[in-house]
Amino acid sequence: MEHRGPQVAHPARVLIFPLAAQGHVNSMLKLAELLALAGIHVTFLNTNHIHDRLLRYTDVRARFAKYPGFLFRTIPDGLEEDHPRAGGRVTDVIFSMNEKTKPVLREMLVSGQLGSVESPLVTYIISDGIFGGFTIDVAEELGVPIIQFRTGSASVFWSFLFFPDLIESGELPIRGKEDMDRLIKSVPGMESFLRCRDLPGFCRVSDTSDPLLQLIAQVTQQSRRAQALILNTFDDLEGPVVSSIQSKCCPKIYTIGPLHALLNAKLTKNTNGSEDPSSNSLFDVDQSCITWLNSQAPKSVIYVSFGSITVMTKHDLMEFWHGLVNSKKGFLWVIRPDLVEGEGGAGSVQAELAEATRERGYMVGWAPQEEVLAHPAVGGFLTHSGWNSTLESIVAGVPMICWPYFADQNINSRFVSEVWKIGLDMKDVCDRKVVEKMVSDLMVERREEIEKSTAEMARLAKKSVNEGGSSYCNLECLIEDIRLTRK
Ligand code: UDX
Repeated sequence: MEHRGPQVAHPARVLIFPLAAQGHVNSMLKLAELLALAGIHVTFLNTNHIHDRLLRYTDVRARFAKYPGFLFRTIPDGLEEDHPRAGGRVTDVIFSMNEKTKPVLREMLVSGQLGSVESPLVTYIISDGIFGGFTIDVAEELGVPIIQFRTGSASVFWSFLFFPDLIESGELPIRGKEDMDRLIKSVPGMESFLRCRDLPGFCRVSDTSDPLLQLIAQVTQQSRRAQALILNTFDDLEGPVVSSIQSKCCPKIYTIGPLHALLNAKLTKNTNGSEDPSSNSLFDVDQSCITWLNSQAPKSVIYVSFGSITVMTKHDLMEFWHGLVNSKKGFLWVIRPDLVEGEGGAGSVQAELAEATRERGYMVGWAPQEEVLAHPAVGGFLTHSGWNSTLESIVAGVPMICWPYFADQNINSRFVSEVWKIGLDMKDVCDRKVVEKMVSDLMVERREEIEKSTAEMARLAKKSVNEGGSSYCNLECLIEDIRLTRK
């Protein structure tokens, strides 16, 4: 039936669609909240599985109810109900969503399930960059503008863009352990420091037709088709590489990071400081560690956390434990229930370790990480170098020891140690003597030198999110562009 009468201009509605993993949901929900604060109607599309967890462990439903037009919607991830999605199995979720989600997403958009009465149409899509082409196909078919949000750093995106060149030039595959320190020549700007060792674990394959390597190479190329990219970084940290990406393939990039700091700055301004930083945790946060930190001397504690995906052997866990205890420093250690692979998991040793360490260490299953890093007692962070953790450490001015596990983390740790000089890299080694030495170097021996660069980077990060800063202004541009494309 033909519609008559005056056309009503509906408010803009943005669909935000992250991969079902902690680091992705966390940063994209922060972006959702920033847009909602600006009055934009947002639909946040989570997989059923992740959304159940989010509702179990956070108050997001109440928190977001105050934003007009904010909707949570869910979509299946395509895996069997009893599939173990946690820990290292996140790659199954990536493959499954890339294979199976496209028709469901299309149907949800066409049928109007993603809108509300006041703003029935999705006028803009911001999808996770790891989804590659399928969200772009749907957006193009339906005529909806689409931006991709790459949850990793600009430098990681830049190097992933060159995977086809690495394969073609024969720089990949990596030929065994003795080949690890060979410099990579096909990533412009990184020829002097990027080694085979610093490439993601999925590059350590004997055959370049490896499905994960191929998938990542392919989805990265697909990002060129989006109208724009959003990067959770800031210009003073990665400005030159952002410019390189713009000239090579993606002219429009909004660098709006560190997103958690930008959101905290906005919330503080809007509520005169009465609002706490928002938690988007998919785990049960144990606040008792803050009470423990309150009793520790300034900068005396090393915070240890390997993020939401890392898994390790019991042997590695014990090496870390001995190294930490022998360092004679206080430590706060996040041991997720699924951190240790194999029989009994972390549960089988955690109680024993906690008892043996009571004097100097404290262990929790999941910590309020932003709050921990901002605590005066914390003087270092032993991390898996996930991008969110790296940014959170930068903002808090806490130097890092990096033990990367997966995907982008190997590159992040190289940048932390070699380029930004805000930490030390112990990738590929898990030995109690090395752990002890690293902790002692970071907290004592080399403290002054590393602290200087960490403090300066923290200053620049904060500048970028405050009024007039680069990320602050870029967010304003993004909001303006979203409003201008309202149907
Ligand atoms: C992964 C990749 O490692 C990351 O680089 C990519 O960009 C997103 O997906 P993850 O391994 O979960 O993420 O690490 P990270 O990016 O560091 O995100 C973890 C988040 O969980 C951080 O925001 C951190 O604050 C939070 N966290 C972690 C807690 O709140 N409590 C904890 O105890 C541990």
